[in-house]
Amino acid sequence: MAKDIAQQIVPNDELDDLIDGLKQPEKMISPKYFYDERGSQLFEEITRLPEYYPTETELGIMRDNIDEIASLVGKQASLIEFGSGSSLKTRVLLEHLDELAAYVPVDISEDHLLESARQIGEEFPDLDILPVVADFTQPFQLPSPKVMPLRNIVYFPGSTIGNFTNEAARELLQVMYQEAGAGGALLIGVDLQKDPAIIERAYNDSAGVTAEFNRNMLRHLNREFGGDFDLDAFAHSAKYNEREGRVEIRLVSEQDQEFSLSHASFSIEKDEAILTEYSHKYTLEGFAAMAETAGLRVKKVWMDTERLFSVQYLVRD
Ligand code: AVJ
Repeated sequence: MAKDIAQQIVPNDELDDLIDGLKQPEKMISPKYFYDERGSQLFEEITRLPEYYPTETELGIMRDNIDEIASLVGKQASLIEFGSGSSLKTRVLLEHLDELAAYVPVDISEDHLLESARQIGEEFPDLDILPVVADFTQPFQLPSPKVMPLRNIVYFPGSTIGNFTNEAARELLQVMYQEAGAGGALLIGVDLQKDPAIIERAYNDSAGVTAEFNRNMLRHLNREFGGDFDLDAFAHSAKYNEREGRVEIRLVSEQDQEFSLSHASFSIEKDEAILTEYSHKYTLEGFAAMAETAGLRVKKVWMDTERLFSVQYLVRD
């Protein structure tokens, strides 16, 4: 089928996209290139940093409210996770949801997906685990569990939605709406707007792990896409843009320099930056308004006492 061919990720297309991003008026590289093996390890390390509040806060919200979450989800649901599901939060759900029909992790990275599915299979031997290799920003076909699900629950933890621009986030919510199907719902982790000092600290940790995570993207491109970036010549920058409600993460060139990626060469000036990530923070109202444009209604919001982070249950109207 033509659609399947179009969805295949061909490294050449990726190289073209990368080159295209570096030719923009503001140079940019997609945050997906953070996550090679070392990058995934560094992100794990970030989630354990004292300054990085999202992971621990979200896990606490899940633990504190799991009974209410389970009662809203109801019994015999199919849990469809957007992402490979290696987190503790997923395990809290798998332990407490009632008679799950299936667990369907969806991820583009097959190795990572199958490895975490295998691990979850060891921990939950009776669970019907049906991993799907797909780019979840595009509609994909759901597998058929042995037991007929009473409802699909799309799970998207970690405020990964924050990586998407508002327009792309809206489109992703539309895909989730579609995958949830009639009577389905979304359970989604959404980071909240707050004192900018708290946010900026989370992305400028004192141990320098986030800086290393950011620069590692260049190491990844050097290895996989024939790059010759000098990692030491780029500095980490993470600033909260209050007007846009997002952290903007960049690699700032410390000198006038040239670099190349495969056959393409670029020059960058001292203090010129490459944008590597947005991490959007929402207000409850702002997120609800965006969800509404995708046909989704916020039914329940759980937060920590400091209102740093939210876990939200959205239903199709
Ligand atoms: C995985 C996208 C949720 O935005 O906080 C952490 C990634 N980048 N520190 C985030 C990230 C720098 C993270 N997300």
